[in-house]
Amino acid sequence: MMKEMESHRPRWAVLSISALAGVVGAALACGLMAGYTHAANGQATAASNMALQAQPSAQLLGSWTAPPFAKFKKNPIPESASSIASGHTIFTDNCEACHGTNGKGDGPTASCLNPPPANLTAAAVWKQGEGALFWKITNGHSPMPAFGQSLTKTQRWNVINYMHKNFDPAGH
Ligand code: HEC
Repeated sequence: MMKEMESHRPRWAVLSISALAGVVGAALACGLMAGYTHAANGQATAASNMALQAQPSAQLLGSWTAPPFAKFKKNPIPESASSIASGHTIFTDNCEACHGTNGKGDGPTASCLNPPPANLTAAAVWKQGEGALFWKITNGHSPMPAFGQSLTKTQRWNVINYMHKNFDPAGH
């Protein structure tokens, strides 16, 4: 069981190994383009842009809020070992490329995204309540995709159970 989980390779890892040169090129291009946009807007210098990119997890909770009713939705799936194990696989396959292995918002694609991926280990994320997180995962918010079609409700709660157990500073 544990062995299987450890040997599970994320899809993006295989992709990025086979396209390493492309990824490095894209990352450079992202940095240049972001710097250009900021300079054109006159809002930030290239230097502060680079500092932002080096620390995507330093991003404060943005302006994306779930509607008030969302937080009243209760998690129907107990935080069992099997739910957490299933959520781990879902996270590795669907979320890790952006949010990073440890949920800190520092996955391999993070420096290309605006806004950067949320740091899922921040207490402010978990203060919203799991219902609000479920709503966000279901609906997405560009550049984060919506998972309402590609993951079942049970899969979305399983990934929340995995993240709660491993990322919520008050959850473990
Ligand atoms: C393409 C990159 C990408 C992928 C893939 C992705 N996310 Fe995100 N995620 C983001 C970005 C960017 C944000 C911040 C969006 C914003 O603030 O407007 C975000 C925000 C979130 C938030 C909200 C945090 C908060 O501040 O309230 C949660 C929860 C979340 N993601 C969970 C997930 C889960 C679970 C998965 C996988 C099922 C996933 N994400 C996949 C990029 C991604």
